[in-house]
Amino acid sequence: MLNDIEKVLYSEEDIRQKVKELGEQLTKDFAGRNPLVICILKGAFIFMSDLVKEIKIPLEIDFMAVSSYGQSTKSSGVVKIIKDLDVSVEGRNVLIVEDIIDSGLTLSYLIDVLEHRNAASVTVATLFDKPARRAVELQPHYKGYTLPDEFVVGYGLDYAEKYRNLPFIGVLKPEVYS
Ligand code: XMP
Ligand code: MG
Repeated sequence: MLNDIEKVLYSEEDIRQKVKELGEQLTKDFAGRNPLVICILKGAFIFMSDLVKEIKIPLEIDFMAVSSYGQSTKSSGVVKIIKDLDVSVEGRNVLIVEDIIDSGLTLSYLIDVLEHRNAASVTVATLFDKPARRAVELQPHYKGYTLPDEFVVGYGLDYAEKYRNLPFIGVLKPEVYS
């Protein structure tokens, strides 16, 4: 598995520090607001679990699974909710936790859905952002790292469902794709 990695972009220790900083900021900004923190499965599961440990105020969590890609590796803009939330977002301060924003189509659809369900506020925290590939206007409120236009794996992110368990974020060797 490690043989498939061309380079490590951010180590486990880099990410730990970044997640801690994000958590400290969110702790301040969401104090007294009892946020509903929503993990977008599957990619955000590791980021979510590390991040909530660094948010030191009362909060609730829930999970949502969406698919946007179908067969292709590019976003189609057609988003399907595969697993919906268990709780209502009405009147809640929602914090969406995403692994990576690419075209932004998945997230802009989700924000629309949550606003239509009358969330009091919808805030986005993403660990990674690839702004060069944006197809819609969308700025995350909180972000860990800005990435170049390279496909990355690890720390929850996959290629064909593999590599999610790598503790760092890295780029795959080109031969792995072919
Ligand atoms: P959009 O394009 O709608 O898609 O912003 C966001 C989703 O695309 C996936 N994605 C990636 N997954 N490495 C991955 O493992 C990447 O480099 C990458 N870029 C986008 C991811 O599932 C994200 O939620
Ligand atoms: Mg994925």
